[in-house]
Amino acid sequence: MNIAVIGTGGWGKNHVRVLNELNVLKAVCDLDYSRAESLAAKYNVKAYSSLTDMLNNEQLDGVIISTPTSTHYSIAEKVLEKRIAILLEKPFTKTIKEGEELIRRAKKNNTLLTAGYIERFNPVVKYAKSIIDNKSYGDVLLLEFHRENRRPIRITDVGIILDTAVHDIDTALYLLNEMPNVVFARSGKKSGEYEEYSLLILGFKNKNAFIVSNWITPKKMRNFDIICSEGIVSGNFITQEIRIESDDNTIIPRIEYQEPLMLELQNFINAIENKAEPLIKAEEALKTLKIADAALLSSQHGSQIYIGEYQ
Ligand SMILES: NC(=O)c1ccc[n+]([C@@H]2O[C@H](COP(=O)([O-])OP(=O)(O)OC[C@H]3O[C@@H](n4cnc5c(N)ncnc54)[C@H](O)[C@@H]3O)[C@@H](O)[C@H]2O)c1
Repeated sequence: MNIAVIGTGGWGKNHVRVLNELNVLKAVCDLDYSRAESLAAKYNVKAYSSLTDMLNNEQLDGVIISTPTSTHYSIAEKVLEKRIAILLEKPFTKTIKEGEELIRRAKKNNTLLTAGYIERFNPVVKYAKSIIDNKSYGDVLLLEFHRENRRPIRITDVGIILDTAVHDIDTALYLLNEMPNVVFARSGKKSGEYEEYSLLILGFKNKNAFIVSNWITPKKMRNFDIICSEGIVSGNFITQEIRIESDDNTIIPRIEYQEPLMLELQNFINAIENKAEPLIKAEEALKTLKIADAALLSSQHGSQIYIGEYQ
């Protein structure tokens, strides 16, 4: 199994580290050759600054694309031409049209295309999903997400909705296993071109999700609350702790800490080898992108967006 990482910046270097641990790292590619070269030297693999050279010289089974969002489509398109499996980092593509086109090409070439929605592999999300599916605390009424941190200085091509809120949109759609029928969003910024905080309301048939994201809070916070008819399930994405409060009881289940990126890359490798389905289907990543796009539209126009009409 030979896997390469394209884009070895702040996040891509984590893919490189974990793929090396899994013994499948073959090459790294970054427009900034010095970045690729220093990682290649550390892990004893080949470095490239040209994607074309890497695709022509290496026999690859899969690639991770971890470059800025605005470059995802053009890079993925070239990799798909070679029929090499792709894990494309969130938010998948910058536009819905690009996402649809990649899915079409991946299907035509019969090539694996999945997306980097890493929270799906977080043990707290898995635990919460089982509570919801088993109705352990009754019906879900409301999901609440808070994801807050200082602005990542490197991200210059998208705002917080496409960069950060997408994690919680994807988790909400996954937990509830349905699409919202309406989206309303407000957003704002201190300065610059893109929104730096956002408040999203996703309206589902009999429940709602509220997603708060900001790049202004100095401390890192990534939490969720699932308000059910018979209890509240609170989770921390970072510490991987869950707390369940019902009328006269508080439970803190023991959950084994696991690195989500390791689980994500293991799933990608197993999917390439046809040993497992990819946990994130490209079509699901596209649905998340559609909701993020509706939220952007809503925040720009000040009105709610009905998803049926919008699609
Ligand atoms: N899943 C997650 O939790 C998570 C976390 C952070 C970032 N990300 C995603 O990872 C991607 C990268 O984010 P980042 O924070 O690492 O950004 P970054 O700017 O730190 O790194 C991007 C790297 O890509 C390189 N690059 C740019 N264009 C390229 C091209 N055409 N070919 C090869 N290399 C190119 C840059 O030189 C840079 O080294 C984004 O899509 C982001 O949304 C995902």
